[in-house]
Amino acid sequence: MNHFISFETLDLELIRDLVDDAISFKRKKAFPNLSNHYISNLFFENSTRTKLSFEMAEKKTGMEIIYFDAESSSIKKGETLYDTVKTLNSIGVECFVIRHTQDRFYEELIPRINVPIINAGDGCGDHPTQSLLDLVTIYEEFGTFKDLNIVIAGDIVHSRVAHSDAKILKRFGANISFATPEFWRDSSMTMGTYTTLDKVVSDVDVIMLLRNQNERHAQQYDENDFLSQYGLTTERAAKMKPSAIIMHPAPINRNVEIDETLIEAPQSRIFTQMSNGVFARIAVLNYVFNS
Ligand code: CP
Repeated sequence: MNHFISFETLDLELIRDLVDDAISFKRKKAFPNLSNHYISNLFFENSTRTKLSFEMAEKKTGMEIIYFDAESSSIKKGETLYDTVKTLNSIGVECFVIRHTQDRFYEELIPRINVPIINAGDGCGDHPTQSLLDLVTIYEEFGTFKDLNIVIAGDIVHSRVAHSDAKILKRFGANISFATPEFWRDSSMTMGTYTTLDKVVSDVDVIMLLRNQNERHAQQYDENDFLSQYGLTTERAAKMKPSAIIMHPAPINRNVEIDETLIEAPQSRIFTQMSNGVFARIAVLNYVFNS
């Protein structure tokens, strides 16, 4: 049985296969048939893209979705995550897509249940399906990861996207740098060098912006000055190589992480990332059920 919780336990060949699968599903518009499989999406944190692109992936593969709403569920009466999963499994759910506020929430589930868990984001930990769609987007653009110069900019310490992406892109041979305010550095992120956007903007192939995770901040910061100090302004974007691309996992704080005129600019791949999310998630469902 295959869980999909982090890239850390997966070898590079398998991850490359998932990238290739996603690109193939996108190009051929032919999807694996997972009809008669029952799945639930358990989201204990807000989501638009991940939740609904999983739902689209599940529908495109013919799956039966057993809908779950945390707000109206017995979680509100104190039921634990384990009891919720065990209950839904007892009534026939065969796979769970879970987003949770707790880092590594899956560690307490995996030894106790006998169905696959797909991590849709754990606290400040990992976001492996976002990472897969980011890999797909970068690979479509450049045909490789090796030796690409990638700057990840913004709220590094709180971002599960930064954590997942930096680790896997480094393993694939990309050169990673981080452009972040001092107060959002992450001492565990040693796979890249710390820099500023101004120093690297004209050299990088990918500018990967992050959402400022305001709901996770203990301390206030000045949002009004953020764009000019740390964000992607039009002046900085004008210095990018013509071949370089702009990425952001979204949701976006417009005019904080990025000038809003750049969101749909020719070099932006932000909405391509969202489209690719459906095919990346089909690849993950196929991996979980068919390999
Ligand atoms: N990128 C991402 O995870 O978006 P959502 O929080 O809307 O799912």
